[in-house]
Amino acid sequence: MTSLHQQPRFVALQEFKRREQAMSLAARFAEDPERFSRFCFAFGSHLRVDLSRQHWSSEVQVLLCELARDMKLGPAIAALFGDNLFNHTEGRAALHTALRMPVGASAVLDGVNVVPQVHVELARLRAFCDRVHTGEWRGFGGQSITDVVNIGIGGSDLGPAMVVEALAPYQDKGIRAHFVSNMDGAQLASVLAVVDPARTLFVISSKTFTTDETMTNARAARAWLLAACNDPAQVKKHFVAVSTNAAAVQAFGISPEHMFEFWSWVGGRFSLWSAIGLPIALALGFERFEQLLAGAHEMDEHLRHTPFEQNIPVLLALLSIWNINVLGLQSEGIFPYSHHLKRFPAYLQQLNMESNGKGVNNTGEKITHNTGPIVWGEVGTNGQHAFFQLLHQGSQVVPAEFIGFARSCYDYPEHHRKLLANMLAQAQALAFGKDRQQVEAELAAEGQSAEAIAKLAPYKVMDGNRPSTTILCDEFNPHNLGALIALYEHKTFVQGMLWNINSFDQWGVELGKKLAARLIDDLADDGVTTSHDSATNGLLAQIKAWR
Ligand code: F6P
Repeated sequence: MTSLHQQPRFVALQEFKRREQAMSLAARFAEDPERFSRFCFAFGSHLRVDLSRQHWSSEVQVLLCELARDMKLGPAIAALFGDNLFNHTEGRAALHTALRMPVGASAVLDGVNVVPQVHVELARLRAFCDRVHTGEWRGFGGQSITDVVNIGIGGSDLGPAMVVEALAPYQDKGIRAHFVSNMDGAQLASVLAVVDPARTLFVISSKTFTTDETMTNARAARAWLLAACNDPAQVKKHFVAVSTNAAAVQAFGISPEHMFEFWSWVGGRFSLWSAIGLPIALALGFERFEQLLAGAHEMDEHLRHTPFEQNIPVLLALLSIWNINVLGLQSEGIFPYSHHLKRFPAYLQQLNMESNGKGVNNTGEKITHNTGPIVWGEVGTNGQHAFFQLLHQGSQVVPAEFIGFARSCYDYPEHHRKLLANMLAQAQALAFGKDRQQVEAELAAEGQSAEAIAKLAPYKVMDGNRPSTTILCDEFNPHNLGALIALYEHKTFVQGMLWNINSFDQWGVELGKKLAARLIDDLADDGVTTSHDSATNGLLAQIKAWR
């Protein structure tokens, strides 16, 4: 495929750059009273996406959609729902959309419809959740389970941990979910300190079942449990696994009947919809897990069947191409105004940065334009009292994405009014700022002297003209969250497709793992190590001296 930069429409878009940059957001709104309705897009009756405060025009939107058509985005989207080999460097399909298809739907891979096997596994999950929730599943002392500890990392942690945290108001099954991912034993220790071994179920989640962090934590958890029950035969009541690697699960000592399966065509960071979502179903109930899947499926249908001009994930991806590759804005700030979404930026970091942080295209050539942005963020209003200063007056422009919910799950109406007011105010301030005249008038109204006004005014001027997107949902519930997550999955996919990269591999993480394996051996030995570069040798020596 001809690269993005050589696409005629992309060249045309670059010609628009100067003109678009010359027009401020304030001028755009002043010129066009319909701007909001023109650029605010609907997903069903639950979600609106306001793209009116981006530095673009209808002409740019048309060109971006044409660019997507030229680059065969339509057939690529169709392929995401069936036989394909998107992950060609690992020889795997990417068919996570099948995980949320309803009974009777079809997603064909190698001539086989995979949807029935998805539902067989969902039925096993449901039956298992029922056993835990009804208290039929008991620990070594004969008591029911109260705590579930998910041991996994990356895609086997971030998605379930984010969703369980996000849907905290819906946790009414009497199960507390904990997540252990880190190689730092501090995390395992802090979880084990608050759970009762007799009433704790460990879910060992790993697509490969070889990831060092997960296996190290899983072995330590097993030893902790054994120390408490003193009977290896009881361990099976406290350990289940979610994996694609049945042999390794069995070798660890978990029997196949306590293993929940998913498939090589599910990428780790796209796996929360599979059995990897078990902690979600345990903490929230299986029906809510199904609602999450249904929300994601609705977004899948939107992606599949909506013209690009109104297709929300496509538009978000196209806008990011415009911001990154034309306007040169290299990061994206994600600011959910919902405290329970505090893990959402971390989840999106893996989703987008592991998918699109690539420098080689699908034919193995070095890419000369920018690809995945730096994704970061924090919940509002906390971020406002931390780094928003830079967003408003710093030298770098960061396109901001605000996410808010019209209704709250909590009975604190004043809080919620203020929360939403703050979100709207930030988008307003970023876009329209405050000019010198306004600043001077305000200072004068405060009774400041002419001298003080002249001195202070430059610091108080806010240029504004900084782009943002607002995603507004009616309420915070499993269905809407499923749709929101799928929206970002599809944005990521469409970006990767337009950059002509493989969004489904992650070779860049491998070297560090290999180097760490060598260093683990070096750290096990108290002698002097000289086999590395001098910085590593020096730091090893210092660690050995101090430990
Ligand atoms: O190291 C990166 C990675 O492979 C991620 O892509 C993945 O989500 C994570 O590690 C965990 O992998 P696994 O589920 O196989 O333990």
